[in-house]
Amino acid sequence: MPIISAPHAFNERQLYVDLEPIFGHSLYLKCEGFNFAGSIKLKAAVEMVEAAEKDGLLTPDSVLVESSSGNLGVALSMIAASKGYRFLCVTDSRCNLSTRLLMEALGGEVHVIADLDANGGFLGARINYVRALCSSDDRYVWLSQYTNPGNWRAHYRTTAQEIARQFPQLDVLFVGAGTTGTLMGCARYFRKWHRPVRIVAVDTVGSVAFGGEPGRRLIPGLGMSMRPPLLDESYVDEVIQVEEADTIRACHRLAGHGFLFGGSTGTVVSGAMEWLAQHETPGLTAVAIAPDLGERYLDTVYQTTWIKDVYGDQILDSEAVAAGPREAEPMPRRPARRRNP
Ligand SMILES: Cc1ncc(COP(=O)(O)O)c(C=O)c1O
Repeated sequence: MPIISAPHAFNERQLYVDLEPIFGHSLYLKCEGFNFAGSIKLKAAVEMVEAAEKDGLLTPDSVLVESSSGNLGVALSMIAASKGYRFLCVTDSRCNLSTRLLMEALGGEVHVIADLDANGGFLGARINYVRALCSSDDRYVWLSQYTNPGNWRAHYRTTAQEIARQFPQLDVLFVGAGTTGTLMGCARYFRKWHRPVRIVAVDTVGSVAFGGEPGRRLIPGLGMSMRPPLLDESYVDEVIQVEEADTIRACHRLAGHGFLFGGSTGTVVSGAMEWLAQHETPGLTAVAIAPDLGERYLDTVYQTTWIKDVYGDQILDSEAVAAGPREAEPMPRRPARRRNP
């Protein structure tokens, strides 16, 4: 019986959903939403805060500040409350209402940016805002998830090793890409492993993380409006881009079987299923990572009016949901990369 005295001391690390009965291809989905912050971002938050404490950057009157589309903000609100720091989250209008309310319930302060940057995202504007805060008062401490090596190191030390322990015959790993902390931590770990693992990054159409064209993206978590500073593409074997409409369909297909996952899980599952359909290889051991659960998306991904307004009336036709993802888009202008040609 685990008994804890700090909220970040609990994190379910070994829960997988077998998706074969739902999608017809063998894929084990690692669930990262079962902790008090509700997402995989707890791991990066703990690693970055503890590193800052070790480096003497945090004092009792420090105010942690971070740009986040939500989940890291929730994790930092929780850790800050537990450790007695103040926390300010700079987010944007794509952040779910429930996520914002969660941060506030945990004592975090939330500033919402409404101006798009040149790439059609909010990231540049959010980062400029954080920089201005930090230069206005030296009590602000910016952990900077986009550049902080603690972000990928958290997954090198935890997520990757958890998967390795459960799947010693792992062949392919599908990881959604936001800051690419999860992707780079896992990719670096498996590069040195006892057998080759194909690392497939899953991104959203409209993200420029891997060089695609900028476009509208409404589901938070995955995708970037700049190249992620942590990304080293030499560790990534392939990149798949998924349309948000396919993300929604995958989420609803999972929900139709009682599994309510977050939007980015729909993206990763959609991309992974398309990849598995194209690479019919019997006996392949494939794992994907589900960053969070669905409750934060009830007013978007799981709200029929919102979905139809944004993606059109046909999106949730039962045939479309049952058929699963349409062909996922390979990255334009570039063939799939192979590590060992
Ligand atoms: C729901 C969700 N999915 C995926 C990601 C991407 O993870 P990473 O930043 O490690 O690439 C995030 C990051 O915030 C997230 O909140």
